[in-house]
Amino acid sequence: MKIAFFDAKPYDKVWFDNYVVEYGYKIKYIDSRLSLETTILAKGCDAVCVFVNDTVTKQVIDELAGMGIKCVLLRCAGFNNVDFEASYKKLHVMRVPAYSPYAVAEYACALLLSVNRKTHRAYARTRDYNFNINGLVGMDLHGKTAGIVGTGKIGRIMIDILRGFGMNIIAFDPFPAKDSDIQFVSLNELWEQSDVISIHCPLTPETHHMVNADALEKMKDTAILINTSRGALVDTAALIEAVKNRKIGGVGLDVYEEEDDYFFEDRSNEILDDEALVRLMSFPNVLVTSHQAFFTQEAMQAIARTTLDNLQRFERGEFLLNEICYQCEDKGGCDREKKRVNCF
Ligand code: NAI
Repeated sequence: MKIAFFDAKPYDKVWFDNYVVEYGYKIKYIDSRLSLETTILAKGCDAVCVFVNDTVTKQVIDELAGMGIKCVLLRCAGFNNVDFEASYKKLHVMRVPAYSPYAVAEYACALLLSVNRKTHRAYARTRDYNFNINGLVGMDLHGKTAGIVGTGKIGRIMIDILRGFGMNIIAFDPFPAKDSDIQFVSLNELWEQSDVISIHCPLTPETHHMVNADALEKMKDTAILINTSRGALVDTAALIEAVKNRKIGGVGLDVYEEEDDYFFEDRSNEILDDEALVRLMSFPNVLVTSHQAFFTQEAMQAIARTTLDNLQRFERGEFLLNEICYQCEDKGGCDREKKRVNCF
């Protein structure tokens, strides 16, 4: 089997090259992202491997299926960039549902600590031998309230970490875990009561812009908002207004709704066209990083392994454990898990 590996970065090659020989597969690394213009580069391959910012639209799917590609291997958990309805019965789409929830939760916590205690700004100052601490004051997290939106794998670990700081935890999830000791509240109560808000839910039509002007208005003026999930969960224009109007204490973003054109790339020699991104990064209380929450050795190892396992299952005609289709997602779940049958 030969894999066309789009949006390949040097660190991807390190981890996939470690294992691919063992599976007997070949990888064609392609620097470009997958799009209608670049699908042709997959010619002669059996599968394409894509990441969060590759766009797998209906047209791309038709082109890929036409040239004999059989699988789309997502080397990530999120899948909002794939048109599942279009891929149904044409291409099997598989993902890596979990690689290291610890990596993301720990990173969300790192963002929180930096935004709160301003270590990123302190570092810049002391590098320049400026040992002044004016403007670097933070708050004790101990005794404060953290609101966690989404109590799945990552959200639950974030809760454990923040409890370690002595924070009170409240959470919102439309499917609250029954076996937990988490105090679930309504979303409005969460916005109103939290000193720290961290978002850990998927991007869906329902969650799109869940942090909007209305939600921001309800938050405490001192609240710190952390988003390591997906950019479009937050309405960037509304967030910028809230920061400008001193309606929010601090913001840590590892994701941004228009990140596709910028994140994972070196744009340091260019003039950035994205006014909202530049404005966001101009605020002293906003810290933006480039979708790196997942990026630990353990996670990269698990991503490479699971991606190659997914293809091996297809090659062997086995049950595709990590397959996902529009029926699984949009229609309340097909019963493939129970019957151990593939989506098609
Ligand atoms: P998960 O599937 O284990 O948990 C998601 C939780 O969100 C579930 O409990 C679900 O019930 C809940 N949820 C669904 N709709 C909701 C809504 N409207 N409001 C509140 N909660 C809702 O997913 P996991 O592994 O915890 O990942 C969470 C998100 O983190 C992913 O969807 C992905 O977008 C993001 N992520 C970001 C990474 C990064 O590098 N920045 C890496 C990996 C994941």
